[in-house]
Amino acid sequence: MAAPEITLRLYRPSDFEMLYRIDQACFPRGIAYGRDELKSYLRCDGSHCLLAVVGNEVAGFILTGRSGKLGHIVTLDVLEAHRRQRVGSSLLRAAEQEAASHGVKRMYLETATDNKPEIALWEHHGYRKSGTVKNYYGRGLDAFEMYKPLGAMSHTDPN
Ligand SMILES: CC(C)(COP(=O)(O)OP(=O)(O)OC[C@H]1O[C@@H](n2cnc3c(N)ncnc32)[C@H](O)[C@@H]1OP(=O)(O)O)[C@@H](O)C(=O)NCCC(=O)NCCS
Repeated sequence: MAAPEITLRLYRPSDFEMLYRIDQACFPRGIAYGRDELKSYLRCDGSHCLLAVVGNEVAGFILTGRSGKLGHIVTLDVLEAHRRQRVGSSLLRAAEQEAASHGVKRMYLETATDNKPEIALWEHHGYRKSGTVKNYYGRGLDAFEMYKPLGAMSHTDPN
């Protein structure tokens, strides 16, 4: 099957409810963000949010933050119907480029230790585990902290 055409665009405040619903659909209760938490990440200094559009539908989004040379991936969400078609990779690559253009040298994120697809995506893009945060999500659910030096980015990075 031909790869779908993916268009990326910046978040607009009128997208908020849709983003909230996508996040609720992508993550289990307790890990998905509440409205207030999601709003506060979107309003942070250095926050950057990109949406991926496939056909007429928003297929996913990425939300990142940055402070100095450090960039944080807050969330990357792709609706189930659009997975394994490079939507997540396109969003991630664009967010890394935006961060690098603002002087970010190192991206990091937290991921549930039991979320195998997510860990596979990060490793595919060159992220490496740097430690485990015990009980990060509460109820005994731990997170890996993962990072990637952006200086290592090149045109040969995976799609
Ligand atoms: C993780 C997620 C963002 C991946 O998005 P996606 O658009 O399907 O990812 P891509 O198509 O760009 O995948 C790129 C590569 O990542 C790896 N990967 C992605 N999903 C995978 C899966 N379910 N199982 C194994 N490897 C996977 C593969 O190496 C894949 O390359 P391949 O398809 O050639 O094998 C998506 O599954 C998702 O939204 N999950 C729920 C929310 C979540 O966990 N978000 C991530 C962190 S905040």
